[in-house]
Amino acid sequence: MSGPKTADIRKAADEMMKLLEELAAFSTPGEGVTRLLYTPEWSEAQQFLLRRIEDSGLEAYADRVGNVYGRLAGTRSGGGVVLTGSHIDTVVSGGRYDGAYGVAASLTALQYLKAAYGPPLRTLEAVSFAEEEGSRFPLTFWGSGNVTGLYEEGSGAEDCRDGEGTTLREAMDRCGLESRRDSSLRSDVEAYVELHIEQGIMLERTGKQIGVVEAIAGQRRFAVTVKGTANHAGTTPMGLRSDALAAAAEMALLLETWAVRAGDPLVATVGRLEVVPNTPNVIPGEVSFTLDIRHSREAELERFCEDVLEAFGGVAKRRGVSVSVERRLSAVPAPMAPELQQELVSICESQGRTWRSMVSGAGHDAQLFAPRCRTAMIFVPSRAGISHSPDEYTSPEELAAGLEVLIALLYKLGYEETDEAIDAPNNMKERWA
Ligand code: HGY
Ligand code: MN
Ligand code: MN
Repeated sequence: MSGPKTADIRKAADEMMKLLEELAAFSTPGEGVTRLLYTPEWSEAQQFLLRRIEDSGLEAYADRVGNVYGRLAGTRSGGGVVLTGSHIDTVVSGGRYDGAYGVAASLTALQYLKAAYGPPLRTLEAVSFAEEEGSRFPLTFWGSGNVTGLYEEGSGAEDCRDGEGTTLREAMDRCGLESRRDSSLRSDVEAYVELHIEQGIMLERTGKQIGVVEAIAGQRRFAVTVKGTANHAGTTPMGLRSDALAAAAEMALLLETWAVRAGDPLVATVGRLEVVPNTPNVIPGEVSFTLDIRHSREAELERFCEDVLEAFGGVAKRRGVSVSVERRLSAVPAPMAPELQQELVSICESQGRTWRSMVSGAGHDAQLFAPRCRTAMIFVPSRAGISHSPDEYTSPEELAAGLEVLIALLYKLGYEETDEAIDAPNNMKERWA
């Protein structure tokens, strides 16, 4: 590749920024961007992308769960697909780059490559995954999880309910995204590349333009329910209470103390807490809260979770409350393909970009592909490391740099001759089983 044609790249980067602007408008009113799975703003965003993909001359389609694809067919039949993209959903009052940047950049990259080089040898597809965050329903990776088999049709996952009691299935059926294909599961993805903001401060702090991700941290998510006895706040002596909130508070503090003691890279968070009956003059009878625990090494992650949950049992016993724990997510640390990391380093060097290798503390759709096919992640800096916030920001220049690196890697994977397995007959089925 003689290196992307700079003039066109500038134009492509401007188009990407415009697309990011347009996507940010698909949000419920209020601070930041809120675009939750199967809400009207989610459907409008996916329908907008389908139209934009069609207008750009790529093949546009949606699968059963509402993942949206743009396909640039390769001239070589039978080989695997190179997939690139990210998720379209957001957290509540999130930023405009988490997920949407990878979606906008992947579509822009395919349009650029088509215009500059014509059809690739191997099919390239850009994807806007339906959901990754877990912000509406008590599950995560709904989009990529249906592509990679984490969720199977009829597995019961669609019976889970959001805060208003709507099941995922009802929301999906009513979401208004028409003409979806009848399946999401794929066995033809030979490589997956995700461009994403870092959501941390390491690139900014070390003055590097590009993050070459070596692994994505493992993650556990739990729903914890503490049951005590609701009672009168005025007539119940302190020594006769089974206060569910006091017990939950002690558990949350224990989690933080143990996580600080465990040291980096372990992180642990109680992000959501609900009190019943949540009334000023009633001793809380029931409290439910979430646990989000991460580490880049599986054994230490698993042991920390076991120890903490055992300690929660001790707190509950001493306080005369009950505690129940439901595991909601168990993602193992996901190493990225060494050969693609090496390729990214060469691209950064040839484009004169500063770079660093790093582990991602944030979870990403890429971690579901890593065990199944060659997977790579590219990071660009987040200002002050802020993300999942309206203050999330990355400059247009930094976003353009990421786009240029992505284009170069997709060119390598899609257009260049290689004796890699990527052209082997499609033997992915067993690897995907
Ligand atoms: O929570 C995460 O790590 C990701 O942003 N969903
Ligand atoms: Mn994300
Ligand atoms: Mn996120």
